Amino acid sequence: MAIHLLLSVSLLVSSLSGTASTTFTLSNSCGYTVWPGLLSSAGSPPLSTTGFALAPGESRPVDAPPGWSGRVWGRTQCATDPNTGKFSCATGECGSGTVECAGGGAAPPTTLAEFTLNGAGGNDFYDASLVDGSNLPMVVVPQGGSGGSNCGPTGCLVDVNGGCPADLKVTGADGAAIACKSACGAYGRPEDCCSGDHNTPQTCQPSASSQYFKNACPRAYSYAYDDATSTFTCASGTANYLITFCPSISSLKSSVSSVNPTSSGSGGGTGQPLVNETVSFAGQGGDPYEYVSASSMSSAPSILLAFAAAAVTWLTCTAHRLPL
Ligand SMILES: *[C@@H]1O[C@H](CO)[C@@H](O)[C@H](O)[C@H]1NC(C)=O
Repeated sequence: MAIHLLLSVSLLVSSLSGTASTTFTLSNSCGYTVWPGLLSSAGSPPLSTTGFALAPGESRPVDAPPGWSGRVWGRTQCATDPNTGKFSCATGECGSGTVECAGGGAAPPTTLAEFTLNGAGGNDFYDASLVDGSNLPMVVVPQGGSGGSNCGPTGCLVDVNGGCPADLKVTGADGAAIACKSACGAYGRPEDCCSGDHNTPQTCQPSASSQYFKNACPRAYSYAYDDATSTFTCASGTANYLITFCPSISSLKSSVSSVNPTSSGSGGGTGQPLVNETVSFAGQGGDPYEYVSASSMSSAPSILLAFAAAAVTWLTCTAHRLPL
């Protein structure tokens, strides 16, 4: 009896003060294994896992304690070296030598999902960042969540590697594009990195390469001072977050419509669409697959055409209901 009472009191207190944990569900829609990495910010406790393998089609929940902040990303083309026993990855490498990242961060260029739970004003802050370049398409979709249109999906739906400018492109062992560097990562110039004389929003302008990322992924951070269109918030304690690698339009559609049935087509609080239809789905003439990986294009043009057609159909039918 006394224990029951204690339990209910503590449950009540934790729900009132918003100290319930938040669940990140990591989901792999890529046609290959992705090894997520998770890194807590300084002062935030480590999560129950800092890295694991996620097979195609697999999902795994990871709970984060109240007030947690940190980042989540995907590693690709990982393997254990038979000679040294060390585990490493072609992209997203965290340097631990093991599947768990154990406090190691992602080597750029890597697409990042960044979170600060229960931050200023009682809000969870989250974003997808291409500031350090990009490796995998990745989308963050709040599940439940209040906070209006600013509590919406963000991320980068398209593969920006294939169309990456030649000087920024990273290729794998087989020559296929596996990542795209940011100009800051490639050249380290103050004007690209918003450092030195360029360390204010007024003096750091988007570069040609950050504009390339921004056009393809309008809601993602493309350079350090991209805050106005790239920061999202949900009222703390009201949302869990689904993080999907290589999201398909159809999977996104079902997750978004089931969690945000009443959102109007305002394009989110930032006013940016999640997908730039011009870039991603311009199937009618012009240069249709500018941003689609060249390797997948040559091997599966019909699949791409079907994908584009389905996407256009879906966007046409649902653009007025979904905050995409
Ligand atoms: C979409 O991409 C085109 C060029 O590729 C660009 O001119 C346009 O501003 C982009 N739209 C958004 C919303 O970013």
